[in-house]
Amino acid sequence: MRKLLIAANWKMYKTPAEAQSFLHTFVPLVKDVNQTEIVICPPAIDLATALHSVKGSEITVGAQNMHYAEEGAFTGEISASMLVALGVSHVILGHSERRQYFGETDDIVNRKLITALKHRLVPIVCVGEHEEQRERGETEQVLCQQISGAIARIDAARLHTMVIAYEPIWAIGTGKTATPSLAAEAHLIIRSELARMVGRPLADAMRIIYGGSVKPDNAPALLNQPEIDGALVGGASLDPHSFEAIVKAG
Ligand code: PGA
Repeated sequence: MRKLLIAANWKMYKTPAEAQSFLHTFVPLVKDVNQTEIVICPPAIDLATALHSVKGSEITVGAQNMHYAEEGAFTGEISASMLVALGVSHVILGHSERRQYFGETDDIVNRKLITALKHRLVPIVCVGEHEEQRERGETEQVLCQQISGAIARIDAARLHTMVIAYEPIWAIGTGKTATPSLAAEAHLIIRSELARMVGRPLADAMRIIYGGSVKPDNAPALLNQPEIDGALVGGASLDPHSFEAIVKAG
């Protein structure tokens, strides 16, 4: 059985004070949730505050990005060991906004994944197709290429903690959600590609979560799909009550 994972991706929203205020409200709301793993991924500047605010709860904290190098002259960047030293447990890698606006390629995602695993961070690797790619019937090809690119050169045995987030780009922040069956179909494609690369037992144990306009009203139907092992939530994770509703939909 794969445990559901619901992650909040706050993107570039919330100051440390706002993060603290969110968690002050949110943490008690989900204190009885134990069948679902909850991860909050705030902006890097809020990580320390968030970690402090979730102390004593089951909630964990993830970063939205990291550099692949151990350390060095990379102005503005953050390393895996810095995240681990702070107490961060997860990291989102290859989000489509990173790919689109910051030039992240499958090769960069692969290097980041290697470093994240080395430091025992749980990677949440994002994949997803553009609307035009879907219309041209290229979804399967795009997803397989992103998956195989991300996990290339990595020993399968090291990948057991990896989470894949299927985030169709046309559904992110647009209010257009993939229907539960369409999302489940993409998850099956991803799982078959994983099985081809790392073997069926490991692929079956890995969590594939869905992201793209997940809201309290569509979360139950999405999370009800056996192929959907959780959600990566952007906009609707910014309000404690709407994120609570999504967590409890699982
Ligand atoms: P959204 O973002 O829920 O606002 O569509 C999801 C994501 O980009 O992770």
